[in-house]
Amino acid sequence: MMLRPVQMTEYAGREGLADMQELVQRTWSPTSRLHLGDLAWERASNASRSAGSWRTAVWRDGGQVVAWGWLEQPGHLLMTIDPARPELADVVVRWFRETAEGEQLAAGVLETEQHLLDALVSAGFRRDDAAPYFTHHWISLDALDKPVVPDGLSVRPVRADEAAKRAAVHRAAWSDVQPSKMSEESMATVMSTWPYRSELDWVVENEAGEFVASALIWLDEQHQVGLVEPVGVATAYRRRGLGQVVNLAALHALREAGGTRAVVCPRGDDGYPQARALYQSIGFQPGSRTLHLLLG
Ligand SMILES: CC(C)(COP(=O)(O)OP(=O)(O)OC[C@H]1O[C@@H](n2cnc3c(N)ncnc32)[C@H](O)[C@@H]1OP(=O)(O)O)[C@@H](O)C(=O)NCCC(=O)NCCS
Repeated sequence: MMLRPVQMTEYAGREGLADMQELVQRTWSPTSRLHLGDLAWERASNASRSAGSWRTAVWRDGGQVVAWGWLEQPGHLLMTIDPARPELADVVVRWFRETAEGEQLAAGVLETEQHLLDALVSAGFRRDDAAPYFTHHWISLDALDKPVVPDGLSVRPVRADEAAKRAAVHRAAWSDVQPSKMSEESMATVMSTWPYRSELDWVVENEAGEFVASALIWLDEQHQVGLVEPVGVATAYRRRGLGQVVNLAALHALREAGGTRAVVCPRGDDGYPQARALYQSIGFQPGSRTLHLLLG
């Protein structure tokens, strides 16, 4: 078979997001590791501190993006390859090995992405089953429970001018392990990154006007699927049902915006069970898991 030539473009830092999202959206199916919201969140929320180390390469056939690889850390590869062009997986893995830094090279895929796994295994990567992993969880939006908001609190979508408070609730929920570095500026970047929509970004507010819980959903309109990323409840407000309330409110808004189902990707291993317990308590069902692969 004659393969058409492809053109490769390399980007450093923040550049390349739109190309990556184009391919992820065009080739998305429930067997895909990434939703275009994963890329929006990961790239926008980490850009101020990590973009200096990012390398991205995009391969095009004519005008169309057919493959990309991203070193989200200097030695860690994420990639998307058009399943109709599986031969490009070898090309991306070769680029990764030439570009990556560090003693131990690693890559992440969903267990269903056979074309990516084949290329990694034939390049010498092996599964690391001791590593933490993530499990996709799915919910259909046709039979959602109603959120029941505790007295003294209210739930509503965030406004465009509330990036500072929105960043503060993220920090209040994500500082258990180490202090979250989420700044107002980074949150403003998230809120201006396609396909962010403030009507899908929900918060619980206390009587003092502080946000105490949040849930952000990214809608892929082409596939009517929303990605829930991230969700957090301030430590002082946990185990009062607010994780459920803010999720359910955002999921109802997703349905109104045209979504038919939602996916979320919490840890699947037993090292961090609380997130999947929350999603399963709302009705999300587990699906495919991620695999972590190491070279050598
Ligand atoms: C995960 C998190 C959002 C849960 O928020 P929450 O408001 O405490 O959750 P809820 O009170 O709505 O809990 C609903 C159900 O989820 C499960 N659950 C929540 N936290 C749990 C925990 N720490 N351990 C076990 N199950 C838990 C329970 O089934 C709970 O129902 P119950 O209290 O009647 O037993 C919160 O712990 C948090 O912000 N963690 C840090 C950020 C994070 O991990 N986000 C999710 C990442 S994908």
